[in-house]
Amino acid sequence: MKVSIIGGGGRVGSDAAYALQLTGIVREIALLDADQDMAAGEALDLRHGAAIYGGQTFSSGDYGIVDGSDCVVITAGLRRKPDESRLDLINRNLGLFNGILGDLKKTKLKSTSTILVVSNPVDILTQFAVQSGILPPSQVLGLGTVLDTARFRSLIASALKVNALDVRALILGEHGDSMVPIWSSATIGGVPISSVSGWTQKTADDLFQATKTSGSEVIRQKGGAGRAVGASIAEVVNAIALGADRLLPVSVHQSGALGIEGVCLSLPTVVGRQGASAVWAPAVSEGEKEGLHKSAQSLKDMLGQIQA
Ligand code: 2OP
Repeated sequence: MKVSIIGGGGRVGSDAAYALQLTGIVREIALLDADQDMAAGEALDLRHGAAIYGGQTFSSGDYGIVDGSDCVVITAGLRRKPDESRLDLINRNLGLFNGILGDLKKTKLKSTSTILVVSNPVDILTQFAVQSGILPPSQVLGLGTVLDTARFRSLIASALKVNALDVRALILGEHGDSMVPIWSSATIGGVPISSVSGWTQKTADDLFQATKTSGSEVIRQKGGAGRAVGASIAEVVNAIALGADRLLPVSVHQSGALGIEGVCLSLPTVVGRQGASAVWAPAVSEGEKEGLHKSAQSLKDMLGQIQA
């Protein structure tokens, strides 16, 4: 499977390429970037590791190298400032993103290709990618709350001193300020989290707050996320490459699950060879459902302001 990363010379794009090299599922990785030398350097650096990690091929260049890609990952964009919300970022990123969509339209994708939007605000930009008509809506995904869910699980594990692989806890809705923690189905090794001794509402609130501010905290400390977001991208791309039908909280255009439609946000979604094959409407508490509807409304309001 061939993956092209638009923004592959940047922190997120190059960390995603490295995560794809370490997991070794895809065979060809092409890196594009406004800074072509940086993309070429990242491709060369990755190519040097091929003798150790496996015989994948790495290339860089202009949009011509996107032809024939099975998945196009878009990470290009200006980075959020620590005190800036993702939605505030939209005005700085929208022009750049529409330019990328215009160039992507001229490439020769397959009827089965997929697009994975990572650039922020990811739910809004995923909606623009869907509206571009480059591919059918089910083949256009956003990274959504896959990263938030990974952070949430990892922070819970760290607080409770358990293995993060045993923590099952979802963040759904917007990848942003209105994201929703789904405590009602959170478990550790199958044990409901609420039954863990010493678990309190304050513990839950503090862990969700830490998750919600993780992006800003990483920006403040090291200038921007890369490692976990790269791993999250690889989890989605590998699900596509393997046709694995993984259930992942990617952002897709909603058409009615939980009463949400007409906006891109994250609900549990079956991800396989041709993108999203089904969106699940999980049993959630009334408060969680209300939070998800607020998240959808917040995104619709922003879309309304942008498209006005
Ligand atoms: C984050 O939350 C990059 O939006 C991403 O760090």
